[in-house]
Amino acid sequence: MWDYTEKVLDLFYNPKNQGALPDNNEAGVAVVYGEVGSIACGDALRLHLKIEVESDRILDSSFQTFGCTSAIASSSALTELVKGLSLDEALKISNQDIAEYLGGLPEAKMHCSVMGQEALEAAIFKYRGIEVEAHEDDEGTLVCSCFGISENRIRRVVIENNLTTAEEVTNYVKAGGGCGTCLTNIEDIIEAVQAEREAMPAKLAAEITTVQEQPNRPLTTVQKIELIQRVLTEEVRPVLLADGGDVELYDVDGDRVLVTLTGACGSCPSSTATLKGAIESRLKERVLPSLFVEAVN
Ligand code: FES
Repeated sequence: MWDYTEKVLDLFYNPKNQGALPDNNEAGVAVVYGEVGSIACGDALRLHLKIEVESDRILDSSFQTFGCTSAIASSSALTELVKGLSLDEALKISNQDIAEYLGGLPEAKMHCSVMGQEALEAAIFKYRGIEVEAHEDDEGTLVCSCFGISENRIRRVVIENNLTTAEEVTNYVKAGGGCGTCLTNIEDIIEAVQAEREAMPAKLAAEITTVQEQPNRPLTTVQKIELIQRVLTEEVRPVLLADGGDVELYDVDGDRVLVTLTGACGSCPSSTATLKGAIESRLKERVLPSLFVEAVN
């Protein structure tokens, strides 16, 4: 028997915002949904968003979930968390935020919070015209065939949640939780991420933390470029790679960050939305609020 918090049980027995959102073709309003998971894998979530087009703000949200107690509670929590937020604010919601809203989730059920975060991202990217692959079609190297989980997706969850064991990866994305033949590969990915982390100079790691705490502090040009490069490598590229795209830093000119987009991002007609949504907002948050991003060919 799982040890669920009262909040989890309450949202399971009395879920808020369950069902589809009707699209009444209201002027100035868009209704979209993002979908993740599959019933074959045991969990599936469709997250609906009602968005005010002019302000880019989420007016309402609802969910349809096939899954366990924590999947339903996580989905319901997410709909409460996103209401009233701008889309850029909503993109900052992490799976840890969902778990915290619920007063915590059993470790083995963290994949439910990850599913929520991915559905939110899928809905927003869909609204912005950015293609997001369902995980079973994920184009990265397939690591776990039982659950259709790619290397890119495992790297992302390891980085974002500081995971250190294959068991934790199973808890967060289910990979490894079937036949177990992929566990060695998962351990190799964790080791590679840790090696990359260790290669990060301690001074630079401290800089990132300091900048996050004091977003307006002055940075030298070298510090700024190093931080931008680090955030692109550690936080942005894993997301784009998971969708078959990639980004490279081309130049930094004052607050203007020039990047090249390749793969699916380079050919995507909505690459501007990709830049604004997935790259610029992350650099503003992590490095300097005044940064803006432009693509070069
Ligand atoms: S291949 Fe990953 S659990 Fe079977």
